[in-house]
Amino acid sequence: MDDKILILDFGGQYNQLIARRVREQNVYAEIKPYNRITVQEIKDAGYKGVIFTGGPNSVYDTSSPHYDPDILQLGVPILGICYGDQLLAYMAGGKVSSAENSSEYGKTTVFTADNILFQDIPGESICWMSHTDFISQPPKGFEVIAHTDKCPCAAMCDTDRKLYGVQFHPEVTHTVYGQRILANFLFHICACEADWKMESFVERSIEKYRRELAGKKVLLALSGGVDSSVAAVLLHKAIGRNLTCVFVDHGLLRKGEGDFVEQTFRGTFGMNLIRVNAEKRFLDKLAGVCDPETKRKIIGEEFIRVFEDEAAKLGKIHVLAQGTIYPDVVESGKGDSAVIKSHHNVGGLPDVISFEEIVEPLRELFKDEVRRAGIQLGIPHELVWRQPFPGPGLAVRVIGAITKEKLELLRDADAIFREEIASAGLADKTNQYFAVLTDLRSVGVMGDFRTYGCTVALRAVTTDDFMTAEWTRLPYEVLERASSRITNEVAGISRVVYDITSKPPATVEWE
Ligand code: XMP
Repeated sequence: MDDKILILDFGGQYNQLIARRVREQNVYAEIKPYNRITVQEIKDAGYKGVIFTGGPNSVYDTSSPHYDPDILQLGVPILGICYGDQLLAYMAGGKVSSAENSSEYGKTTVFTADNILFQDIPGESICWMSHTDFISQPPKGFEVIAHTDKCPCAAMCDTDRKLYGVQFHPEVTHTVYGQRILANFLFHICACEADWKMESFVERSIEKYRRELAGKKVLLALSGGVDSSVAAVLLHKAIGRNLTCVFVDHGLLRKGEGDFVEQTFRGTFGMNLIRVNAEKRFLDKLAGVCDPETKRKIIGEEFIRVFEDEAAKLGKIHVLAQGTIYPDVVESGKGDSAVIKSHHNVGGLPDVISFEEIVEPLRELFKDEVRRAGIQLGIPHELVWRQPFPGPGLAVRVIGAITKEKLELLRDADAIFREEIASAGLADKTNQYFAVLTDLRSVGVMGDFRTYGCTVALRAVTTDDFMTAEWTRLPYEVLERASSRITNEVAGISRVVYDITSKPPATVEWE
């Protein structure tokens, strides 16, 4: 087993980022809420080191998360970050005070001492601070190893017990030597080996599932999205034809998408794929429905019904495979329940179809790692780097009631917009881009004729996490070409507008 690091989560906003930064150094990291793992479990799991994350403001606040001080006796190296640093000081008998009038926020110059944690970094550098409280008296046995103009203890350590704390955030890119500091902790203090590599993950997983799923029939709902595609190819390499993938084509996909999915998985990979052409079923259910949430609900339910019908035809199925990824599994430090995607959540299926077990081959991976695994498995770049596409598909991009004709108009307009973005070399510069068919008609003129056609809105957004998003400043020439081609090539569309609203207040999708 590879060396692994525990990220003990106290509810900080950067907990996943810390884990990703550790994994970027090829060391496996997992996140556990502080209230879901005991000192004994930490010991038994054999972690090479523990990182305390940031969290709520004051360690003296009774509602702030605390941890069993016995962890300090384990002999496992600890790095506390921000709140985690203060908590470490507090647990070890130091003093934390509030600096209400001199809180530090943003890029700050930090002066670091000659210490193993700061090996190979200059004595003066930029770090990212975000705190009001600070350590006013380090615990006994600790020495101060960094300071800023306002913060007398920006880092501390007890070398003998391998306990380290930094008030700043090494995981954010604004801390110029943040990755180096984490590397020093991982390799020089915890003595980790850099052996968490995607090649070995992929090989190991294939080996494991080949062994564990031998002779079993496995079923997977393939959407053509990155996660289910990578899960499917990985399992296919492990168990071949014993994996059946059901691809429900609800008729709400983009132009040519259904064929592309079929071709890739059945053609290129030779997989056992069932494509269910269920357009009529879905459109019948959606007829006349205008409310976005009702559309989503109908699609979600119908998806399950179609999947059930297919599964019933297959006879005995032992295992259900899902493309769940790590951010779906991670729980927050406050003890909230896991975040589960609401759409295409086949987790509800075991109630109606009997499976002996569920496998989730990607449950340890972040999205960028899933993509790396995809490349490793030979999945085409086009699929691995696909922009997100909502489960309910074009149903939430046709405003108002859905008809087959409207879907066709939208598909054509959307394909043109995507082609223009791609040919301008902008596909990697904007995170999601698509067309929306509004329910607005407007007057136009073509030749000597008056027209009264549909209005299409184009949308492109730039974002890190889709929680907030900026509208992408696409070059006018690209918008001009898309507009001109759409109105010329798609009969029925006479006006094109560009959506210049960010999120918030707007959402990415129109419905
Ligand atoms: P919003 O519109 O909420 O979208 O700003 C944020 C991201 O989520 C996608 N999205 C969905 N994905 N089922 C999904 O699987 C849905 O019902 C759904 N609604 C929105 C959207 O495309 C964007 O990437």
